[in-house]
Amino acid sequence: MSYLVFARKWRPLTFDDVVGQEHITETLKKAIEKNRVAHAYIFTGTRGVGKTTSARILARALNCEKGPTTDPCGECVSCKNIISGSSFDVLEIDGASNNGVDDIRELRENIGYSSMGGKYRIFVIDEVHMLTKSAFNALLKTLEEPPKNVIFIFATTEPQKIPATIHSRCQRYDFRRISAEQILQRLAHICEKENIAFERSALMLVARKAEGSMRDALSLLDQVYSFCHDNLTEKEVRSVLGLVGMDIFDSVMDAIHGKKAALALKAVHDVLYQGFDLQEFVVGFEEHIRNLLFARIPGALETRGIDMEQDLIERFVSSASRFSEGDLLRMSEIVRKTENDIKWSAYPRFCVEIMLLKLASLDKTVSLEQLVSMIGNSQESSSEIETSADDSDLKKKAR
Ligand SMILES: Nc1ncnc2c1ncn2[C@@H]1O[C@H](COP(=O)(O)OP(=O)(O)OP(=O)(O)O)[C@@H](O)[C@H]1O
Ligand SMILES: [Mg+2]
Ligand SMILES: [Zn+2]
Repeated sequence: MSYLVFARKWRPLTFDDVVGQEHITETLKKAIEKNRVAHAYIFTGTRGVGKTTSARILARALNCEKGPTTDPCGECVSCKNIISGSSFDVLEIDGASNNGVDDIRELRENIGYSSMGGKYRIFVIDEVHMLTKSAFNALLKTLEEPPKNVIFIFATTEPQKIPATIHSRCQRYDFRRISAEQILQRLAHICEKENIAFERSALMLVARKAEGSMRDALSLLDQVYSFCHDNLTEKEVRSVLGLVGMDIFDSVMDAIHGKKAALALKAVHDVLYQGFDLQEFVVGFEEHIRNLLFARIPGALETRGIDMEQDLIERFVSSASRFSEGDLLRMSEIVRKTENDIKWSAYPRFCVEIMLLKLASLDKTVSLEQLVSMIGNSQESSSEIETSADDSDLKKKAR
């Protein structure tokens, strides 16, 4: 039996199934209803957020035998051919490997033929930013006055590389990164349909790691599923994804609280010794501090939508009670800066060690509020001093 990865098996077939891109799918639906579909679109956005998917849905919406319709049937010959990629009227061209002027000339000739049965001829050019300058020029004329019922959809992750002359002839739609919460819901839906049991916190780990890309999330789901099989637990997912466990973060926070720099530094050793990635450690630690910060605000952790077990919430609340909100905010600033630095540094380990040292000596640096109150105090005492007659006493106090 051939095995289809989740990302392909669960490619949305209707506009309503596309997650997190309502600003685009609703606009496209309206355009179809009002018969105002443009001749050329640019779909931009990071990897795996629904560009190719939406292009295919638009193609089906226009060419469905019951269409143009906002809700293509998926049953008719046209829909089926487009889904299987065998439709003559919907051509997907890889801009990276067909990027020369000859390829575009061939495309232009191709455009001259009329539709084989569908209502529209739709050309989806993926990675369009890879076209050469002369290839773009060869496209210009066609874009200016496209033959009737021909539609171009250009998909790209790098819109800034498309010439302004092309831009100005197209409608541009920017696909967003998808929120972890929305990815989580989609993953949960898919797991339910696939009869896979899961802990929500396990799926949340997958959703976070995907950084806004649904395809990445589904590829990770494939990976954890083949390891955990029919029950996805947080513990196992953590280990498959190489995510650092909470125990390490707890011990770092203990060390910071006790100002034990050496103990905090030991965490780096543990992380590397256990085969974890330092970047992963810093990202996880940032998340940990964020949870502590939320734990300082009554009820806030529960509303973060990550479905924490009650005992975990209590664990965060008790750990957080040792730090002020101001401290936690400053810590999260330091960690966030390290997360950024580490990407470019030749010595990531050193970056992390410096971060831990800063955190362990945190309250020696003074917060703005403390500074203001210190200044206030010193002003009070200096006005007392002015009334004092003894000059040398005044100098001593002012210091
Ligand atoms: N918004 C979304 N809603 C639901 N599933 C999505 C969404 N975006 C992507 N997917 C899933 O990820 C897979 C890949 O999506 P798609 O091919 O549309 O990505 P893309 O934006 O074209 O990415 P690339 O730039 O890498 O080509 C789809 O088959 C689908 O399973
Ligand atoms: Mg694509
Ligand atoms: Zn149809």
